[in-house]
Amino acid sequence: METQTAQMLRIGDIAPDFEAVTTKGKIKFSDFAPGKWTILFSHPADFTPVCTTEMTGFALNKDTFDALNTELLGLSIDSIHSHLAWVNNVREKTNVYFDFPIIADIDMKVSKLYGMLQPNESETAAVRAVFFIDPSKKVRLIMYYPLNVGRNMDEIIRVLEALQVSDEYKVAIPLNWRKGDKVIVPPPKTLDEMNERMADQTIDRIDFYLATKTL
Ligand code: BEZ
Repeated sequence: METQTAQMLRIGDIAPDFEAVTTKGKIKFSDFAPGKWTILFSHPADFTPVCTTEMTGFALNKDTFDALNTELLGLSIDSIHSHLAWVNNVREKTNVYFDFPIIADIDMKVSKLYGMLQPNESETAAVRAVFFIDPSKKVRLIMYYPLNVGRNMDEIIRVLEALQVSDEYKVAIPLNWRKGDKVIVPPPKTLDEMNERMADQTIDRIDFYLATKTL
C-alpha cells in the first residue's frame, strides 16, 4: 500500500495554476474562464463505459452549466489523440458532442497536482474527482468517486446551485435542498442577535439556532 505524501488539495485552497493541452487548445488555468465558476473533473480513461456515460451527462447538461455561469474542464491521463478519437467516436455513435475542453494529462502533471491520482485506487488512472472552483479560483467543494462508480449529475448541479445561492444570499443550505426550497438563516452570534431572532416574524423558526426562510 502506498502512503499519500503530497498535501491533498482542500476546500478553501486556491486552485493551483497549471498549463495544459486540451481538446480546445492550450490553456493556462489562471486565465481560464475569467469571472466564472469552473467544474474541473477527471475520468479514469477514454473509451471506457462508465466514463462515457459521465461525459455524456456533462455534455447533455452544458446549457445548465452555461446558465450557472460555469465552465466545464475535463481531464484524463490520455493523449490528445485518444481524446479526439473518443469525442469523435461518441459523436458518431450517439450524436452527443463533448463541447468543452478535456485536458490530455499524459504526463500526470495536473492529476498529481490536484490529487486526482490516488495510487491505492490506481497508479495510472485518475479517480473520478470533481473540483468546484469559484470565480476567485478558490476550491469550494470536492468530490471523489472510485473507478467503478459513476457520479450523480443531479448532485453535481445541486451543489453548484447551493454554493451559488449560499454566496448570493449569505445563507446555509439544509439536507437534500433543491433550488426553490427554504434555506437556513445563519444562527445568531450574540444575545442581541438571538433576541432579535426570537422576535422575527418573517422567518420559520424552530428555535433561535434553527430557522429557515423562502428566498
Ligand atoms: C469505466 O469508465 O467504465 C471504467 C474506467 C476505468 C476503470 C473501471 C471502469
